[in-house]
Amino acid sequence: MRDERLISPHYIGAEDHQENTSLRPLRLVDYIGQSKVKQNIQVFIEAARGRGESLDHILLSGPPGLGKTTLATIIANELGKPIRKTSGPAIERPGDLAAILTNLEPGEILFIDEIHRLNRTVEEVMYPAMEDYCIDIVIGKGPGARTLCLELPPFTLIGATTRPGLLSSPLRDRFGINCRLDFYNEMELLMIIERAAAIMGLCIDKEGAREIARRARGTPRIANRLLRRVWDFALVKGDGVITAGLARMALNSLEIDECGLDHVDRMILEALINKFGGGPVGLETLAAVVSEEGDTLSDVYEPYLIKLGLIQKTPRGRVATEHAYKHLGYPLAPAWKSELFNLDDTAPEESE
Ligand SMILES: Nc1ncnc2c1ncn2[C@@H]1O[C@H](COP(=O)(O)OP(=O)(O)OP(=O)(O)O)[C@@H](O)[C@H]1O
Ligand SMILES: [Mg+2]
Repeated sequence: MRDERLISPHYIGAEDHQENTSLRPLRLVDYIGQSKVKQNIQVFIEAARGRGESLDHILLSGPPGLGKTTLATIIANELGKPIRKTSGPAIERPGDLAAILTNLEPGEILFIDEIHRLNRTVEEVMYPAMEDYCIDIVIGKGPGARTLCLELPPFTLIGATTRPGLLSSPLRDRFGINCRLDFYNEMELLMIIERAAAIMGLCIDKEGAREIARRARGTPRIANRLLRRVWDFALVKGDGVITAGLARMALNSLEIDECGLDHVDRMILEALINKFGGGPVGLETLAAVVSEEGDTLSDVYEPYLIKLGLIQKTPRGRVATEHAYKHLGYPLAPAWKSELFNLDDTAPEESE
């Protein structure tokens, strides 16, 4: 489900499109943060170049808006190869995938977004394509049917997913390189905002940028979007300069608090505390109370709430931590509850 929240990490509309084309870094040196991933990718690119072979298949996973599509485009640029972009749900039948694969140029990058949504029959075409650069084609029907192996040019598959857990293991095992993108820290977001402001020609001081960085949920897409909205306030309510004071005023008007939480996040925490005594409560039940879908709750809201330590996943469901009570200004959770649910990090999480 696409939501229209200001702090939605999802790609929303025309402005995001404009942002994508102008603000998206094109080379690895301009890709801020994710230093481990970047270092490794640099090595793999150089090795592939040195050997004159195509790069091994790469799986990029992580919450929306962290730069998976950007990184895939950068890899293609660094290799000097073309990139063809598609997505799991767009490839409906095995024939669709066969058509894409047989039209690739040698060394081309095939980028499949939301790869966890490929259907099983399409996935089966992918296995030999990834492993041996060939696809099996069945000719004829019944007992006389024959299987022909059609050779493909060597290519690199880059799969992106927000839900690596939903990938089937045969598919996951065929990726030679597995990169997990993580939320960005404040310093990195500050650099992303300063870079975007320079490209857009905005006046912003360091503290103004820091204020936006702090509330951007560790996500570059949100950082860039908040920068635009704060800029609107600077033009209409200020003197065209984004200072800390102006950013604070703008973000408060937009109801985004110091941690980057908006009204939906607060609704989730409030429901957890007020309706379910702090939990544990199952994902679907909690989602229904805040009128969201379970998938949206677990893909979009939860990762950041967990990262901030406001909620925890336990074997029996979601639990509000003491930090959540403090954040909303409620009296603390009963001690027995923290003992029961907060300490057992090793237990398996509630299944999704
Ligand atoms: N490391 C980075 N440095 C600078 N800007 C970045 C970086 N990563 C992402 N961005 C900015 O954030 C925007 C969103 O990134 P991108 O579209 O690559 O995210 P995504 O992970 O593919 O999201 P989704 O899961 O929704 O497809 C980009 O348009 C780009 O401007
Ligand atoms: Mg993307």
